[in-house]
This record gives sequence, structure tokens and C-alpha cells, in this order.
Amino acid sequence: MEPVNILYISLSGNTKYFIGKLTKYFEEERHIQVNSINVKEHPEFTTLDQPFVAFLPAFLKGGNGINNGYTEILTTILGDYLEHEDNYRRCYGIIGSGNRNFNKQFALTAKQYAERFGFPYITDFELRGTAHDFPRIADAILTYRDQFSSQTTNKGVVPNGN
Ligand SMILES: Cc1cc2nc3c(=O)[nH]c(=O)nc-3n(C[C@H](O)[C@H](O)[C@H](O)COP(=O)(O)O)c2cc1C
Repeated sequence: MEPVNILYISLSGNTKYFIGKLTKYFEEERHIQVNSINVKEHPEFTTLDQPFVAFLPAFLKGGNGINNGYTEILTTILGDYLEHEDNYRRCYGIIGSGNRNFNKQFALTAKQYAERFGFPYITDFELRGTAHDFPRIADAILTYRDQFSSQTTNKGVVPNGN
């Protein structure tokens, strides 16, 4: 099966840890290779020509996520990366994360990105995730990837360009 491509940002290491575990799960349990880019470690923008999934932890400025607290801080480079060369067009969805102590603001930045770029909000997990999250999120990624490739094929944009 085609590798799973992931674009993500991790500032304090939780998302990086999660992607490491998810990669191991995909490779050992599903025999699918994972290619991932952590924008914090590789801030130079490249053109992503293969379909990918994005992961984004929430870092918002204060507030409660209802009347205020929806201003993204620290992770805006991921949005710039998605805008670069229209990379977002190859993104078949985003997975949010955060800390549930933030209540309404939980994983809010990924929801904002889904609205801003028009790709699906696939699901979310908290902090470093749990063992239950790996099969659940792997299944969700493969489902959204399949939907994306069938939609692009139906539009006549087939992978070989015919
Ligand atoms: C300054 C700051 C603001 C945060 N704001 C939110 C928030 O609004 N919503 C949320 O769900 N989590 C919030 N978090 C928690 C982080 O999203 C969470 O710790 C996440 O796992 C960090 O991912 P990382 O370690 O990969 O960078 C915030 C954390 C910090 C330090």
C-alpha cells in the first residue's frame, strides 16, 4: 500500500511522540510505511506533491474559545506551509490535539484550519494519546485518504495526469 504522508508541528514534543508511536503501529500492524515532516525541525517549505494528512496541536492565546481565546500563537508556520505552493490542496484532512483542560478551546486550531482551508477535520486526541488512539486514528486516516483519492479520480484528476 502507498505510504502515509504526514505534515505536523510539535513544539513541546507530545505530537512528535504520538507520530512516532503511530508510525510504529502503521509499520508493524498494517505494514504501511509512514513519511513525516515536523515543521519545527524542518521549517524550510517544500512542495508536497503527494496526498498527506496534517496534525496540529492547539496553542491559543488565553480566553475560553467562545468569546475570546481563538487566536493562534506559535504554530502559524504550519498554516504558511499549507499555503506554500497550494500544498493544502493535497491535504486530505487534519487531526487536532490539545489538552481537554482547555474545554471549548480543546484542539480548536485544527478545527479553524479545516474551515480556513476547506479540508475535513478528521478527529482529535489528547496530549500524547493512548494505546486506543493508534488503531482508531490509523483507520480514520486510511478512510479519508481513500475518499480523497476517489474524489480526485472522479474529477478526472487521476494520479498519472490523464
Ligand atoms: C501556551 C499554550 C497554549 C495552549 N492552548 C491550548 C488550547 O487553546 N487548546 C488546547 O486544547 N490545548 C492547548 N494547549 C495544550 C497543547 O496543545 C498540548 O500540550 C499539546 O499536546 C502540545 O503539543 P506538542 O507537545 O506537540 O507541541 C496549550 C499549551 C500551551 C503551552
